Amino acid sequence: MASPQKAAAQTDARLGRIVRLLIAHATVVVSGTKIAAEIGTSRSEIWRLVQQLRDLGVDIAGHPSTGYSLRSMPDLLLPDMLALQLHGTLFGEHIHHYYKIGSTNTVALEAASAGAPEGSVFLAEQQTAGRGRGANQWHSERSVGIYCSALLRPALPPSDVLVLTLAAGLAVCSAIQEIDSRVVPDLKWPNDVLIDGKKVCGVLTEMQAEVTRVRYVVVGIGINVNQWSFPADLQAIATSLRLATGTEWSRVEVCVALLRSLDREYRSLLENADATASILHRFEERSSSARGQRVVVEDGGFEGVTEGLDSRGFLQVRTDQGMRTILSGVVRPA
Ligand code: BTN
Repeated sequence: MASPQKAAAQTDARLGRIVRLLIAHATVVVSGTKIAAEIGTSRSEIWRLVQQLRDLGVDIAGHPSTGYSLRSMPDLLLPDMLALQLHGTLFGEHIHHYYKIGSTNTVALEAASAGAPEGSVFLAEQQTAGRGRGANQWHSERSVGIYCSALLRPALPPSDVLVLTLAAGLAVCSAIQEIDSRVVPDLKWPNDVLIDGKKVCGVLTEMQAEVTRVRYVVVGIGINVNQWSFPADLQAIATSLRLATGTEWSRVEVCVALLRSLDREYRSLLENADATASILHRFEERSSSARGQRVVVEDGGFEGVTEGLDSRGFLQVRTDQGMRTILSGVVRPA
């Protein structure tokens, strides 16, 4: 009989504290004794934790008998690297980080059903079973992408949840443009962000709901950040921020910008009566395909021309038989 799979462990919070300490003393060598005292453990345990950080890709020099120093600023999505900059947002308090996990959406859904608070964020350096829409997988190579799931508990009927996916796409676009305004992301309904016609980000929104009320929603966002290449089957359709711009991006910076932007969109949705209309309007503005594009709706097996989004965010397609509202499924250029 197969033994049950062991749940992936969260990254040891002491790793983030060590990194923070080394950043705070970036120009000097910090002794193992000092780190051990600050973290509240032994020098040999610090040595073991430093090894773990090196395995995560953090470039730490070890100086025999004197201590440790950072050779370069690490770009890890550790809670200690993010929390300060997310202070005051919904996402600053409950950040969970995993070195390697099946899927951040799966762990977020499990945490949500066990009562985790709204605003909990689940991040991984690597996913071994990253999920996309339908039966798709999400390519989740170690430490080059952002694999992020945010837990929300909005007072919405299930039929209104699509707007959260659209808002997440807008948040990704804002985050990218805040960092480099020369990049022009294009939204493809309902959950893709494209650059130069290739996919740089996908959003997977999953929920648990009663008939009239959502219990919780997990918004899973995958962003290709620093990939230099993709497996052969993805090469023609995927890109990364690095491939699109020719420069390396800070995942920490992108992740902070993303969560701050998602916080603004979500708060506005809860507080302003006209926020949904604004999201729909901005989505259409940012999408080259939401209006006037000839498309094939794969699951329905019909063709038509896109005519924007309806009041809940569903895509309208004009066909020879009249207007059709697309609730889900794949829509591709005809
Ligand atoms: C898609 O384009 O089909 C959606 C892709 C969503 C990928 C993200 S990565 C973080 C989160 N965890 C998952 O398993 N999937 C989402």
